[in-house]
Parts: sequence; C-alpha cells; structure tokens
Amino acid sequence: MQPGLFRFGTDFGNGDLDRQFLPRDEQHAHYTAEKRRILADHPRRVLVAAVSEEDHAALEAARCFLVQTAENEGHPVRSELSLAQLGAELAEDFAVLTRADRAVMVHVCFPSGWRPEAVVGESFVRIHRHVPAFGAIAERAHGLLEAMLTRGPYVRFVWTVTADDQLDHHPEQGARLPWTAQTAHGFLRVERQTTVPLAGGTASLFLIRTYLYPFAELSESQRAILSEALRQMPAELAAYKQLTSAVPRALQLLR
Ligand code: HEM
Repeated sequence: MQPGLFRFGTDFGNGDLDRQFLPRDEQHAHYTAEKRRILADHPRRVLVAAVSEEDHAALEAARCFLVQTAENEGHPVRSELSLAQLGAELAEDFAVLTRADRAVMVHVCFPSGWRPEAVVGESFVRIHRHVPAFGAIAERAHGLLEAMLTRGPYVRFVWTVTADDQLDHHPEQGARLPWTAQTAHGFLRVERQTTVPLAGGTASLFLIRTYLYPFAELSESQRAILSEALRQMPAELAAYKQLTSAVPRALQLLR
C-alpha cells in the first residue's frame, strides 16, 4: 500500500485529460444516470457532518471550486446548484476533509466495497483503519493531511479487478458479482483520486473518478502487466481487495 501521490497535471499519456479535474468522456451520461438511480434508492449516499462555521465554509469552497472548474473545463453547470445537487451532475464522487481532520461531507455513489455512511464525520486515520499495512502511512498521516490541505493538487490511482461492470460496489446496496471458476468476463477497475487544497489551507476536496475496462479491450501489453501485478499481489492485500479466489480465474481470462 502506497500513498502514490503524483503532482496533478503529471503526464500519464492522456494528453489534456491529465490536466483536467473533471474529465468528460462518452460515459458521462451513463454515470449520471446511475447516480440518479442510486440516489433515488439510497439518499444517504450524500451525507453532511458540518457543524462549525469553518465546516460550512469548507463546503462552500468545494462548491465554488467545482462550479468554476466545470466552467473552465468547458462543461458549465448552473452556479446556483447546492453541493449535493452539483455532485449528481458529475461523473466523480467526492469527499470534503477539513483542517480539524474530519470528513464533513461525502457524496459517493460508486464506492469500491466500502460504506460512505461509515466515513462521514471520521478522521483520516479512522477512515483507513481497515487498510492493511496502513500503519506506515498512518505514521505520516499528519504530513499527508497537511499535503492535502495546503499543497498539490495531487493525483493517485487505485486498481482492482472485478467480475462485473457495476459502478456501485457498496457492500450491501451495490450489485457486485463474486469471482468464480465460471466467471465469463473480467474488468479492470481503476480509480483516479485527486486532492485539491481549498479555502486557504483549511479544507481539501477529494475527487474519485471510477473507470471500468473490460479485459477483452485491454492490449496485449496491458494484459501482461495486469497479470504480473496479480501474480505479485501479497496475500494480505488480495484478501483486503476480496481477490483471493479471483486471481486464478482472472489470470486465465487475461491469457
Ligand atoms: C493523501 C490522500 C490519501 C491516501 C494516500 C490514501 C490512501 C489509501 C490507501 C492506500 C487505501 C487502500 C486502498 C487503496 O490503495 O486505495 C485507501 C482506501 C480508502 N480511502 Fe484513502 N487515501 C487518501 C485520502 C482519502 C480521503 C480524503 C478519503 C475520504 C475522505 C479516503 C477514503 C478511503 C476509503 C473509504 C478507503 C477504503 C477503506 C476500507 O476499505 O475500509 N481516502 N486509501
């Protein structure tokens, strides 16, 4: 487990998209339709734990950043939308963290196996307490929090493999297929996570954009890299990602 933070704007070979916070693609309408469906069934995917004036100022700073950024990147949204309404128009999920080390808002429809309701109001270290080997990162939690609040923006990537192309992998409310020996299709699931300092270093916006790539559409070299990463994955990490029984079948499908 690595913080793996890159300075935002690092060239990963995606041209202009690497320099956008809210990159648009042909999947946008599908993502926002999925959000509408999920939010109608589970309104508690949008949760606010703002108590102080600073907390409310953090939420307003996040709202202004998103309105301004959507406009700068060529997809303007109505500037009078609330942060909750705005979230439903974006492909990205997000959380807002404050200098008091609390997640004062989560707007998450596409979690990868975690519960947004367990994250809101919590600190950086508590949110990550189930992550294996997070101890080493936790020792640097203060520095990481400071980096999220005052430096960057930063970007990091997280990946896993899934047996379905459902965006919502909430443990109870989502629809996640288990891996079996009969699994017919595999998908590479990647999260692009961006941290944006806000409000003069008093808050940070954490954006999560989830991407799904069918194994069938990966190039030969991408399949080889993914296979090698699966082979090298430590058992503890595979268990955390619920991939212990997935690896043999995923490797077959990638062949
Ligand atoms: C510097 C910023 C951050 C770093 C380095 C970091 C690191 C990590 C790592 C290493 C994991 C394990 C899986 C993975 O590789 O992603 C993880 C999981 C997770 N992170 Fe973060 N994270 C950061 C910021 C945040 C923020 C701001 C939030 C929300 C407010 C958050 C919420 C979560 C959640 C909910 C999980 C899943 C935890 C679970 O499985 O119980 N992270 N993070």
